[in-house]
Order: sequence, then C-alpha cells, then structure tokens
Amino acid sequence: VGGVPRIVTLSELATHNKKNDAWIAIRGIVFNVTQYMDFHPGGIDELMRGVGKDATKLFESVHAWVNYQSILQKCVVGRLSRGTTPSP
Ligand code: HEM
Repeated sequence: VGGVPRIVTLSELATHNKKNDAWIAIRGIVFNVTQYMDFHPGGIDELMRGVGKDATKLFESVHAWVNYQSILQKCVVGRLSRGTTPSP
C-alpha cells in the first residue's frame, strides 16, 4: 500500500502455488488471486493451472480479452522481476 512497488521474483512467486495462497503473474504484474479463486468463471482447476507462475501466455491463449486489471485491481502484490535472485 506504499508508494514503492514491491518486486516479486519468480522463485518467490513459485512458493505461492496453493489454492489458499495463490499468486499469478500476468504481463509483468503479480496478483494474489486467493480471494478470486471461488469466483473464477472457468473454475478453480483452470485458474490453478497458472498459479505460482508467469501465466501471461496461458492467460492470453485462453481469454486475452478478459479485463483482469479491473477484476484484480485490489489484488496487486507488485511487479515481477526478470531474474530469480532477490532485487536490491
Ligand atoms: C473464463 C481458464 C485466469 C477471468 C475462463 C474459462 C477458462 C479459463 C477455461 C472458460 C470457462 C467457460 O467458458 O466455461 C483460465 C486459466 C487461467 C485463467 C487457465 C490461468 C491463467 C484468469 C484470471 C482471470 C480470469 C487471472 C481474471 C482475474 C475469467 C473470466 C472468464 C473466464 C472473466 C469468463 C470469460 C467469458 O465468459 O468471456 N477462464 N483462466 N481467468 N476467466 Fe479465466
């Protein structure tokens, strides 16, 4: 909630790969979709395919038109870093 964007590494993202602790990265932004899980129109199992990962390509292959930025605006964790080591 501060002004400095939080940086999330791929390895940190990968630890949030459970239904009750679910993060997903789309186009460089990491979202916490734990609360959205039960409301995903495609179901829990479909959404879980992208959880803990950079799911940009998967998301775009399924429904590139979905306005996830609006749906998940309250669920932003931060920005996805390119590397796997913690950012300075
Ligand atoms: C619908 C898969 C992520 C929002 C669907 C459907 C599938 C699917 C298969 C079609 C369900 C049906 O028509 O019966 C996935 C996969 C995801 C993912 C594999 C992993 C990346 C998300 C995210 C959001 C989202 C992150 C938004 C925050 C929606 C919406 C629909 C939908 C709004 C309904 C779209 C429509 O009817 O036009 N999803 N989804 N999904 N999903 Fe996802």
